[in-house]
Amino acid sequence: MAKILEKQVLRFDLVAVKIEAPEISKKAKPGQFVIVRADEVGERIPLSLARISPEEGTLGLVIQTIGVTSSKLAAMDVGDEISDVAGPMGHATPIENYGKVALLGGGFGAAPMYPIGKALKEAGNTVTSIIGARSVDLLVYEKELGEFSDKVLVSTDDGSKGLKGLVTDALKQEIEENGVDWVMAIGPAIMMKFVSLTTKPYNIKTFVSLNPIMVDGTGMCGACRVSVGGKTMFGCTDGPDFDGHLVDWGLLMARQRTYLEEEKLAMENYLCNCVPSATK
Ligand SMILES: Cc1cc2nc3c(=O)[nH]c(=O)nc-3n(C[C@H](O)[C@H](O)[C@H](O)COP(=O)(O)OP(=O)(O)OC[C@H]3O[C@@H](n4cnc5c(N)ncnc54)[C@H](O)[C@@H]3O)c2cc1C
Ligand code: FES
Repeated sequence: MAKILEKQVLRFDLVAVKIEAPEISKKAKPGQFVIVRADEVGERIPLSLARISPEEGTLGLVIQTIGVTSSKLAAMDVGDEISDVAGPMGHATPIENYGKVALLGGGFGAAPMYPIGKALKEAGNTVTSIIGARSVDLLVYEKELGEFSDKVLVSTDDGSKGLKGLVTDALKQEIEENGVDWVMAIGPAIMMKFVSLTTKPYNIKTFVSLNPIMVDGTGMCGACRVSVGGKTMFGCTDGPDFDGHLVDWGLLMARQRTYLEEEKLAMENYLCNCVPSATK
């Protein structure tokens, strides 16, 4: 059981919570994640660590409401207890002095970038954080990333704040104007794919935090198989960070789509079995 100590609604679909987790917070490192079950009958879902505080014995999680489990978690309140939190899982992000680093966060991805970016800054890097959204009212985490970043660049599709365009346009501009030595992206697969395609011609090492379907998170079930550099790897035990230039993005996205199609099929079967034919 992990009690929710604080809760903040960041956006209509994003909730930040601080939870009690004394044991995990002592061992956790930036880039790792936990597997969470909202209640005893719930599914297990992976969530990245957005804050790690061993002094307080707490962890911060940012949840994007997508389906059943994320909605259940987002609906919980201060004082409620999350049934299970297991971790820390996965490898930590390699923190070194790379020089000039650019960090790109999309959706919930800006949140786990916080502990990674802070550690990179402490290791001596010049940190540029790049965030984007369709429009200014959907932007999150600008202030938080500004706490340690040398610069936060903003892009919006409609030009309501910062550069008019995508995060990859802001990244390209930063590479050409100031130079970038190392890049990390966390967010939807399509965004990480295009960040990797943007940096490839410049030969800039690009880390991505992959989000395949995970079940046990311990390398036992094989659900999180990804292909990296032609080798089959497990997102949970070999990752979640991988070299974005070597990831087979087509396969990753096809596996994510299969899951959605299976969900749709399950729902159709359910309706076929449960709904009287006259109402189908
Ligand atoms: C290493 C890792 C870290 C993540 N960190 C965060 C985070 O910090 N915040 C956040 O909001 N989300 C994070 N995610 C994504 C999050 O796990 C999914 O959004 C969540 O599982 C959706 O579950 P659901 O029941 O709400 O939605 P569902 O309706 O069950 O599924 C909606 C979509 O979510 C994804 N998904 C569903 N189940 C899983 C699963 N077991 N593993 C991975 N993806 C799944 C699939 O793409 C699916 O199509 C992370 C995923 C991974 C792999
Ligand atoms: S989640 Fe089961 S092997 Fe990775």
